[in-house]
Amino acid sequence: MKNLAVFCSGNGSNFQAILDAVRRGKLKAHVALMVCDNPKAYALERAKKAQIPVVLLSPKLFTNRQDYEKIIVRILKSQAVDLIVLAGFMRIFTPYFIGAYRNKMVNIHPSYLPAFKGAHAIRDAFEAKVKETGVTVHWVTVKVDAGQPILQKRVKISKQDTLDSLEKKIHRVEHQIYPLAIQKVLSA
Ligand code: GRF
Repeated sequence: MKNLAVFCSGNGSNFQAILDAVRRGKLKAHVALMVCDNPKAYALERAKKAQIPVVLLSPKLFTNRQDYEKIIVRILKSQAVDLIVLAGFMRIFTPYFIGAYRNKMVNIHPSYLPAFKGAHAIRDAFEAKVKETGVTVHWVTVKVDAGQPILQKRVKISKQDTLDSLEKKIHRVEHQIYPLAIQKVLSA
């Protein structure tokens, strides 16, 4: 069984979808730990409930990003983590960290990449008044939101959609495809 480390900064609904897929046997993996940079993240509650070990580490405790990342790499190695799953982790890694987990780190992004890169992809698509957007699970590379896609799904934007309803639709699709994409990577 492959070991996953899921990284979260906020709500953790994708983390929850991964835990649920593992519990239902749809995703054959072990969630070894959750890494979090935000003591207020609701994802911490989810981990506690599911009894998943948590590494809660604030980058503010470190003088530079690489020192922060070095500690994380050390922990991941000690837990024999095979795949890093970024699930709403609001931090950009240095090339050092990305190099340490080359081809072993995936991310989910709430648009059909390469459209709407960046931190406000749902809002940007909504405000652009496009007819569809989507969700992408992709490999993490030094260039942000630019790694090879693993799985993508389109999401239609209807005339009735509000930003709120579009967000809900996107999150529903994220929760469907993230476990599938992870299983795809692990089975390859
Ligand atoms: C998701 O929309 C994901 O695509 C983006 O950050 C959000 C995380 O949501 N990278 P959650 O914390 O999993 O609920």
